[in-house]
Amino acid sequence: MERQPIIAANWKMNKTVKEAEEFMKKVAGRVPATERVQAILGSPALFLHSLVEEAEKNQIALAAQNCYHEDEGAFTGENSPKALHDLGVDYVIIGHSERREYFKETDEEINLKAKAIFRNQMLPIICCGESLEQYEAGETKEWVAEQVRKALEGLSEEEITQTVIAYEPIWAIGTGKTSSAEEANATIKEIRATIAQVASSEVADKVRILYGGSVKPANIKEFMAQSDIDGALVGGASLEADSYIALLEGAF
Ligand code: PGA
Repeated sequence: MERQPIIAANWKMNKTVKEAEEFMKKVAGRVPATERVQAILGSPALFLHSLVEEAEKNQIALAAQNCYHEDEGAFTGENSPKALHDLGVDYVIIGHSERREYFKETDEEINLKAKAIFRNQMLPIICCGESLEQYEAGETKEWVAEQVRKALEGLSEEEITQTVIAYEPIWAIGTGKTSSAEEANATIKEIRATIAQVASSEVADKVRILYGGSVKPANIKEFMAQSDIDGALVGGASLEADSYIALLEGAF
């Protein structure tokens, strides 16, 4: 099964509008064709509007880093999935470990967000991953499978097929430590097996599953060489234009 690779930048809470626009100017005309790799840029919601036109010209899909699970209403400070779609946003990253840890996002909420994202014609990038303690206790596979199962609950097979999953061991995020490519691949295979259980093996074969955690141009090829890793969700190494382009080029 040929799955289109994805490199998704996760800028987190970095840059100003001006810096984001400068980044776009630097990558303009250098993004590989979508037949080779789907470039995704997860920008703070504040800059999405100013990036949308250039992103489209360069075949970069824009991602928000979060949204609320209701379309509109009295939810002070939240970002509406309906408004994000209207802005031209294609993907929303949900369930990132930083959101689970610092903002107490639960599996139930992540599931509601996934539904809201589909309801508003966007696609979710659902993050999962274990802590260092869980990793050391050998609990990774069960933990991650449970996160995935709960996030996908109630979604149709068609929706699950279009979902992107990002497996990010928490101990590898921003630490410079990576899971070995083989170990990440083994966990990602388990995630695929979980998807086969909740949907079907045909669906599981089609779902793009990314690895995340200290991915950089120097190691992207190792991950891409694995049978079940379809790309990467990248924080630190996605902030500089040259590095982002190198990651995209390393994905095929
Ligand atoms: P990192 O972040 O590439 O800086 O480790 C990855 C992520 O948190 O998505």
